[in-house]
Formats: sequence, C-alpha cells, structure tokens
Amino acid sequence: MTAFFPATSDLPSRVKIVEVGPRDGLQNEANVSLSDKIQLIDMLSATGLTHIESGSFVSPKWVPQMADSSEVFQRIHRAPGIVYSALTPNARGVDLAIAAGADEIAIFASASEGFSQKNINCSIAQSLVRFEPVLLRAREHQLRVRGYLSCVTDCPYDGQTTPEQVANVARLLYQMGCYEVSLGDTVGKATPLRFARMLDACLSHIPADALAVHCHNTWGQALTNIYQALLMGISTVDASVAGLGGCPYAPGASGNVATEDVVYLCEQSGISTGIDLMKLAQAGEFICKQLGKPPASNTALALLTGDSDR
Ligand code: HMG
Ligand code: MG
Repeated sequence: MTAFFPATSDLPSRVKIVEVGPRDGLQNEANVSLSDKIQLIDMLSATGLTHIESGSFVSPKWVPQMADSSEVFQRIHRAPGIVYSALTPNARGVDLAIAAGADEIAIFASASEGFSQKNINCSIAQSLVRFEPVLLRAREHQLRVRGYLSCVTDCPYDGQTTPEQVANVARLLYQMGCYEVSLGDTVGKATPLRFARMLDACLSHIPADALAVHCHNTWGQALTNIYQALLMGISTVDASVAGLGGCPYAPGASGNVATEDVVYLCEQSGISTGIDLMKLAQAGEFICKQLGKPPASNTALALLTGDSDR
C-alpha cells in the first residue's frame, strides 16, 4: 500500500489545468444564452488558463445544450497561447469542429458497457471502431486528439469498474493516437485507495505525462483523489469553474471539481498553475449569477465573500 502514498516531495512543480466548465458545466444547464457562454469563455481566457474546452459537436438531439457550439467558437475572443478544444463523437463532429476553428478535439469512450450504451449509443468495441475515422480526419488537419475515458471506478448502470477494465481501454485510446487520456470519475464516487489502484493499472501502460484526471465531486472526494493523482506523478487536471457540470447520461452526478479549489490546493502546495485565482472566481461568479445559483466552490465563496483572511 505504501507505493500509493509516496512523499509529498514527489508532487509536480507545475500542473496544467484543463478548464471544462463551458462544456462539461454548461452541457448540464438548460437555457444558457449564447452571449453568456461567450462572455464566460472570454473571462476565463483572461485568467491564465491555457486550455479551455469550449463546446461539443455532438448530436443536438442528444445534448441540445451544446447545439450552438459553432457560434461559440466563431465568436469568442481568442487569446494567444490558449487551446480552445471541443468534444467530437464522430467524423461529422470533427468536420463541424474544424469548420468552427477548434484547436483540438476530444473523443470520449467508457470503461463500462452500460455508460457507453447510454451516452453514445454503442458498445465499447463499436466506439473504438467509430473513433478511427475521427483520428484519421484529425491527423489530416494536424489536430491533436484527447481521449476521455468515463466511469473509471464506478458506472451509474453497471456498478464498480475494475482497474483492469480501465487500463485496457485507456491503453487502446493511447495506442490509437490520443496524446492524452483523461480518466473520468463520471459519477464522483471514487475514494483515494480505489482511485490509486485504478491509476496504478493505467500507469503500467501509459506514461504519467500522457494521463489526466477528471473528477466529478458528487461525494465530495474529488480534491482528495486529485491530490492522490498528483502524488503519483500525474500533472494534468480537468476542472470546471465554480464546480459546474455533470453529464446528462450520468443521473445524479454533480459537477466537476471546482477549478478555484484545484488552483488554491496547488498554489498552497507549492505547485504553480499560472492562474489568477481572483479572476477565475469572478468568471465563476458571473456564470453563477446568470444561472441563479451560488458557486459550488468553497475557495470561490471564501474569496468572494471576503472571508479569505479568517
Ligand atoms: P446515434 O443516435 O446512435 O447516431 O447517436 P446517429 O448517427 O443515428 O445520429 C442521430 C442524429 O444526430 C442524426 O440526426 C444525426 O445526423 C445527428 P437525424 O438524422 O436523426 O436528424 N448527429 C449529429 N449532429 C450533429 N453533430 C454530430 C452528430 N452526430 C450525429 N456530431 C451519437 C450517436 C454519438 C451521435 C450520440 O449518442 C451523441 O451525440 N452522444 C453524445 C452524448 C454526450 O455529449 N454526452 C456528454 C458528453 S460525455 C461526458 O460528459 C463525460 C466526460 O465529461 C468525462 C466524464 O465525466 O467521465 C467527457
Ligand atoms: Mg465529465
């Protein structure tokens, strides 16, 4: 067991945060206007973030909330040095993403059969076959492809997922040409020991610098699992401003870990992120006002209510 808990001197000196709020967050919110989506991304672009997942080119019948992603990409004010990426489940999605000017795309698979069927309407094996033309098209256009893998510890339909199942599909995504595989605790139920066992299995096939973690925070364990991943050498973390998010096909799952909370954890642990925490909290405050709810981030609440010195 000690192998899972190395010394804190093993923490990375820098963490790359992939901001997924405009996609993972807003795919779960009805009635967000196009101008609010654009303003959120523009505010996020001024925080020091280097990677913002800004939309999804999926079937509008399946996720109507992302139906205006082309307009979003065309109207945001792009800042130099930022990668604006999008989800694409199939070749049609890639074509739309390219036409809209996405800098990078992401395919998304599941480690469990139940979620694969519910989320993308096919088996895991079929999804991998369907991703081939996506990767081909991306290569033709020199676009990097990220691979998401959902349900890495638990599935809302099939129960617990084994580390071997996860490592097997993660390895296939990596071998197919995904430059990075983001391991998703879609339902937000993982705890550090199970999360560590899953990471350990993946690390035996994929180098740490090609892995990311994507933790939903339903059971309040996301930050703990992320810290565990950092201790194991993983230095790319997905997060969502104000803790927005969920997946329409993972009932009961809450938002991703809040980006503000990850930035605070990192900076206080001597890990640089390059992100201005106050500007980030203000971007979260803006979108939460539009949504009529408070940020799901303790750090943002402490900062914005002036309690940060207590
Ligand atoms: P399907 O119904 O099997 O496929 O859906 P289809 O080819 O029959 O298409 C259905 C309709 O959608 C057709 O329209 C297509 O033309 C259209 P119709 O002929 O009926 O008028 N269509 C499209 N339209 C626009 N863009 C496209 C596109 N593709 C088809 N790219 C499909 C299969 C994969 C398309 C569908 O299941 C789908 O779009 N699923 C996406 C679900 C989704 O977005 N889920 C949330 C994102 S994943 C997530 O949140 C997890 C993650 O955060 C990690 C984690 O937390 O674990 C990444
Ligand atoms: Mg997610």
